Amino acid sequence: MNNEFKDLVKELTLVWGPTGREGRAAERIAELVRPYVDEIRTDALGNLICVKKGTSGKRVMLSAHMDQIGLIVVDIDEKGFLRFAPVGGIDPEVTVCREVVFENGTRGVTYHEEKTLKGAPAKLSQMFIDIGCSTREEAEKHVSVGDICVYAPHFIDMGSRVACGALDDRICCAILVEVLKKIASPHDIYAVFTSQEEVGLRGATAAGYSIDPDFAINLDVTASADTPECDAMPMAMGEGPTVKYMDRSAVMTKPVIDFMHAVAEKHGIKTQNEVLLYGGTDAGAIQPMRGGRPACCVSVATRYIHSPVETADIGDCLGAVDFVRAMAEETELPAFER
Ligand code: CO
Ligand code: ZN
Repeated sequence: MNNEFKDLVKELTLVWGPTGREGRAAERIAELVRPYVDEIRTDALGNLICVKKGTSGKRVMLSAHMDQIGLIVVDIDEKGFLRFAPVGGIDPEVTVCREVVFENGTRGVTYHEEKTLKGAPAKLSQMFIDIGCSTREEAEKHVSVGDICVYAPHFIDMGSRVACGALDDRICCAILVEVLKKIASPHDIYAVFTSQEEVGLRGATAAGYSIDPDFAINLDVTASADTPECDAMPMAMGEGPTVKYMDRSAVMTKPVIDFMHAVAEKHGIKTQNEVLLYGGTDAGAIQPMRGGRPACCVSVATRYIHSPVETADIGDCLGAVDFVRAMAEETELPAFER
């Protein structure tokens, strides 16, 4: 097993960085990729844009989102309990009895009202965060309305598979770091570690417009439909990086799908086809942009997405490194008329 890559995944999944507050993740990733790129900048939305110059005159945008889902404080009551709202797709079922952590290190635990539930599952509006304070004044010394917290991360090493919160999408940030270390492309490579994916692909929308790519390769997690009684989808862990056909944000075009399969075959890379029934990804923001661009997505089949125990396979990630690199190094990219 590639322990060096696993260590990188661990390091990046433990970094605090919910949607709109990706600065720490961007800082760490910038340090990691600096030796391998010609230029690094951050834009107004918090996207980290890393450029490696080529000679073909074409621009290939690679992307993976840095943000993780979080909880935003909307009220602090007189006894010091915090009420919150979701930032991104927060599942109420996995949000009770969690440890949470704020940017300044303040820790708390989540629980729910009792009298109002009558045995029904708790809604987010019936939950609260307890940060160990007895009054509003005391709580306000640690946390303000508008502060965001995340599920406290715990990295679980199961050998070839790992579990942690924020594998969505830091595991793909790690893949993109590896790609930058190895890539030798004729094209200008714009590796973008995007912000605000979880609230509607907002970072990618901004970065895509400014970069104006000829081809875009996005990396994200996707569902892994190989657990007991789960929804029927073709993806399974350990079967390789995916060729995405469709999700809620995009239907990939035929020339792009054909390109992906041709590159995988040429390089002997094992892939699996992906049809995701729910959720979207940054490629969905690039595809309809500026009159339309060829955009694809390579995903890592991941179990329990948007929970604190997101689980993925390291071998699938290493396959994704090879696959993304091979596509971005191709001289002939999927054609389109500007
Ligand atoms: Co997500
Ligand atoms: Zn994601």
